[in-house]
Amino acid sequence: MTGPRGTGLRARLPRSARPAQPHSVLDYGDRARRRLPRAVFDFVDGGAEDEVTIARNRTAMGRLELVTRVLTDVSVRDQSTVLLGTPVASPLVLAPVGLAAVAHPQGERAAARAASGLGLISTLSSSSCWSLEEVAASCDGPKWFQVYVLMDRGVTRELVQRARTAGYRALCLTVDVPIAGRRERDLRNGFTIPPRPTVRHAGDVVRHLGWTRRFLADEMRGHGLRMGNFDPGHGAAGGRLVMMDMVNSLFDPTVGIEDLAWLRETWNGPLVVKGVLSASDARRCVEAGADAVWVSNHGGRQQDGVVGSADVLPEVVDAVGDRAEVYLDGGVRRGSDVVKALALGANACMVGRPWMYGLAAGGEAGVEGVLRQLLQEIDSTMALLGRPRLGDLDQGVLRPAQILR
Ligand code: FNR
Repeated sequence: MTGPRGTGLRARLPRSARPAQPHSVLDYGDRARRRLPRAVFDFVDGGAEDEVTIARNRTAMGRLELVTRVLTDVSVRDQSTVLLGTPVASPLVLAPVGLAAVAHPQGERAAARAASGLGLISTLSSSSCWSLEEVAASCDGPKWFQVYVLMDRGVTRELVQRARTAGYRALCLTVDVPIAGRRERDLRNGFTIPPRPTVRHAGDVVRHLGWTRRFLADEMRGHGLRMGNFDPGHGAAGGRLVMMDMVNSLFDPTVGIEDLAWLRETWNGPLVVKGVLSASDARRCVEAGADAVWVSNHGGRQQDGVVGSADVLPEVVDAVGDRAEVYLDGGVRRGSDVVKALALGANACMVGRPWMYGLAAGGEAGVEGVLRQLLQEIDSTMALLGRPRLGDLDQGVLRPAQILR
């Protein structure tokens, strides 16, 4: 059963059918929906326009059929690997999510801690509420930092230098936001940062007292919801930030391949390009010095109607060959989705909304719960497929007709 707009979440469950303990990413999604005010949940869960691409990400995964191999010893299983030189417990990485503290005041710090405790990499958004230094100081685990090229190159350069000083191991340049995507749920809800309490939303705020209390306490402590890494400048009336206006006033729509080359010179660590959806762009990125190409449609939040990320993965893997690592995100909700992407040649999978559902459901413990769930599902998929090591996850895992190039 899927939600009304194909978000991948189920339609609201009746109280009697709700599980006491979450047993899947979708269960965490149900909890997040109950715990967050509607406008906040919609900010996390929504996508651009008709949300066709959100649904397509799930369909692309669902179409892939797994093939089991039986009579194989699967008693010892191992999903550890190395990503851009960093040993990790699993090829599962936290994608960057801006303004994560809307879901829980500990926001990006909680996510980094949960990932670190499980031996996973987390990627911090440059649009985080906690500053990159605060997140770096919150735990020792390996972290990557995500940037956009802003119109003011000086601000971007400064962010990159700060990320290097703070010890981030890789830099991810997101290239699919030349302008803001049209997220109509946010427009309808009048979503701002911090959220604006209006008469229309009063009932919703009262129904979510836990969130409201935490939000007000945070405001009173003076931390509140804000951009932690740079001054967003153009606030809307009353100092509230409208995300689309902020993006359109700060992000540079002229960004080209020469900016990637510039970043390559500015940052001497591993460089990842996030938001690639074609073989030709993947090739251009690798030729300009990218160490990894991240196949992504921004979780369906930018241009609606674009291809599902798993559908385009094989051609990107072919184009890149062994010159760079390839990652995938968008609609990864099951451990078996990760296994499918690896079988198609990806080195790792990233999740965005899943860890935000966990964060909303239970702070750091909730993020940890979601990640443990996915790790357990990857493990059981490998066992049930008769493929106990990552090296066994080749194209034989998928029915041949499914691998379209
Ligand atoms: C994002 N994403 C994102 N990406 C990025 O490069 N920088 C950012 O600041 C953000 N912010 C952001 C906010 C929210 C609320 C969401 C849901 C997503 C996109 C994210 O990194 C990733 O590409 C998608 O979330 C992957 O799709 P799934 O896993 O959410 O289906």
